[in-house]
Amino acid sequence: MPLLDIRDLYSGYREVDILKGINLSVDPGEMVVIVGPNGAGKSTVLKSLFGLATVRQGSILFNGKSIVNLRSDKLVRAGICYVPQTQNVFPTLSVQENLEMGAFVRKDDFRHQVAKIYDLFPPLKEKRSQPAGTLSGGQRQMVAMGRALMVDPKLLLLDEPTAGLSPLYVEQIFAIIDDINKLGVSILMVEQNAKPALRMADRGYVLAMGTNRHEDTGPNLLNNPQIAEMFLGG
Ligand SMILES: Nc1ncnc2c1ncn2[C@@H]1O[C@H](COP(=O)(O)OP(=O)(O)OP(=O)(O)O)[C@@H](O)[C@H]1O
Ligand SMILES: [Mg+2]
Repeated sequence: MPLLDIRDLYSGYREVDILKGINLSVDPGEMVVIVGPNGAGKSTVLKSLFGLATVRQGSILFNGKSIVNLRSDKLVRAGICYVPQTQNVFPTLSVQENLEMGAFVRKDDFRHQVAKIYDLFPPLKEKRSQPAGTLSGGQRQMVAMGRALMVDPKLLLLDEPTAGLSPLYVEQIFAIIDDINKLGVSILMVEQNAKPALRMADRGYVLAMGTNRHEDTGPNLLNNPQIAEMFLGG
């Protein structure tokens, strides 16, 4: 059974449907990447999962159960965490406080989890007392991902984690995402840096105008000349 199973999803904002019959799944342990042109509806897929877009038709199953219209704290408790495309840290709070905010649904002692996050993102440890807003873009992205990982999610939703970062940070963030996946966390990631993302993905989906255009393994999408030319920047 897939961990996440989206079937025939129609979803959007107010009266307008942006997604028009999307089908997408993520198996346990998989890394799945969504690519496609600007405005294709990639972010709307993630927002639909997290209750931030209006689902009008179709189903979204997580572990076989519907998660449509679940509150975000319920989603987090069920094991889904979401890192939005922008404004994904609390800029005036310290790095450590940002991580602690991520543990808001945990009642237990989560200090060991903070230590685990610092192991995963070593640059954050030395900056633990600094306001997150003073960090570089790449380090802020680490804080945002670290906060999501505070509850040991089963599925991590990432919206363009490398957008606007320098090439060095792009490489670092991708390497960390690969590590997180190897620790057993399933990943559904939207990426404009399509080629490196598909290189490490198990599978990828190409979306355009709110519909599925192509779906294949990462290597097959990369090696398809038509897809490369139309959607992956040649
Ligand atoms: N909150 C909103 N209210 C109304 N329309 C929205 C809202 N958010 C997005 N849209 C519209 O939905 C469409 C799809 O947007 P979406 O953000 O899902 O695209 P995307 O594929 O993530 O694009 P990008 O690559 O630019 O991030 C766009 O036409 C956008 O203008
Ligand atoms: Mg987007």
